[in-house]
Amino acid sequence: MRKITIIGTGYVGLVTGAGISDFGHDVTCVDIDKNKIKKLNSGEIPIYEPELDTIVKRNSVKGLLKFSSRINEAIKESEIIFIAVGTPQSKNGDSDLTAIENVAKTIGKNLNKYKIICTKSTVPVGTGKKIEEIIKLNSKAIEFDYVSNPEFLREGAAVRDFLIPDRIVIGSRSKKAFKIMQDVYRPLFLNETPIINTNVETSEMIKYASNSFLALKISYINEIANLCDSVGADVHIVSKAMGQDGRISPKFLHPGPGFGGSCFPKDTIALVNTGNQNNIRMNTIEAAIKTNNEQKLRMVAKLKSLLNNKIKNKTITVLGLAFKPQTDDIRDAASTIIIPKLIKEGAIINTYDPVAMDNFKSLKLNINYFNNWQEASRGADALILLTEWNEFRGIDLLELKHLLKAPTVLDTKNILSVENLQALKFNYDNVGRKAIN
Ligand code: UGA
Repeated sequence: MRKITIIGTGYVGLVTGAGISDFGHDVTCVDIDKNKIKKLNSGEIPIYEPELDTIVKRNSVKGLLKFSSRINEAIKESEIIFIAVGTPQSKNGDSDLTAIENVAKTIGKNLNKYKIICTKSTVPVGTGKKIEEIIKLNSKAIEFDYVSNPEFLREGAAVRDFLIPDRIVIGSRSKKAFKIMQDVYRPLFLNETPIINTNVETSEMIKYASNSFLALKISYINEIANLCDSVGADVHIVSKAMGQDGRISPKFLHPGPGFGGSCFPKDTIALVNTGNQNNIRMNTIEAAIKTNNEQKLRMVAKLKSLLNNKIKNKTITVLGLAFKPQTDDIRDAASTIIIPKLIKEGAIINTYDPVAMDNFKSLKLNINYFNNWQEASRGADALILLTEWNEFRGIDLLELKHLLKAPTVLDTKNILSVENLQALKFNYDNVGRKAIN
């Protein structure tokens, strides 16, 4: 059993802390936000993430998972410190590393014996070196090893991704640190999870290269979908057939209104910036970003076209605000771009999302919130679906037709049956499969 401190109780820190305690280690999650720690100590989970409450409870009861705001103490008592604080995007597009740098200083000041300092947060290539320097500058020549151990967790499936990962990446030049880190993930040996040991820079790059490649795949299929719209092809069959080729794989080939969330939009920009700083133009990633921005606007144009360009004073039902299902996260969600555009064009917005409405309310937009899709749809001129929540997959189209003033639907996630939309004579559109027969 290793004694571990996780700094930062956001989505990454909390899932990591809970996951590592589930592996049998003694974990303390710390945060400067005392209120958050108080809530966690009273059993309240501040984010919506399936299964997280179960493993937090399970390991808190066992005494393996604790929450504390005494950061200095926790650092001193631990052998491994995970940095899992936020790295938001600053105004110029670079990652804001203020929180990371402050944490590095605090770690340096509390370094009392050999420790491993491990970064989980996504940080631009080269940041590890800076963190190491800050710790050295602030400590009294006590030995430590720096490790980069990026996370590959998807929101909404983060607990499962942590407990059953595809791979573990450990970036460290120290054999001693690698052995200890291997031990942290020891339960995964049972599943023969590949553990990749490399240097810090390679590890940092793996994270950006992976996320940007996935983003690229999405933009690619969105462009193919847009072309399918024009030529009468069905993008779902195209992507399914493409995916049969083992070199391509069927994953992340689902078209939609463009990718969002706290990772892909930020990480693609950061990779382009790192390229610029090193005089390497990241042309493909730049294109993926451009396509993604355009895709969101394309959805507005599609809706306008369904309404014969008459959108002023029309009531539009927006179903789904979260950037994807199983999360209340609205960061860079398609809804945050599309709804303000529709409002600007004079539309009245009715909306419903199973869990993301509270977060959306913080944007202070003048829109109407409802408790279910039926109420949100009643009397509206058109409906646009933005998030593929399961409860939207089960929408009764006949009921919807009766609720709407006019049966006009834009399904940006392609989850409604085209056959049924056609049979019920909906005025509809989707992304890349309108012409399906
Ligand atoms: C992503 C990666 O998938 C994780 O591996 C990574 O750890 C995480 O970023 C991170 O860096 O922390 P996440 O942003 O939670 O995870 O969500 P994804 O499931 O990857 O979806 C991202 C966006 O792409 C969503 O807006 C989703 O709707 C969209 N998407 C995804 C598509 O439009 N099509 C697809 O085929 C897949």
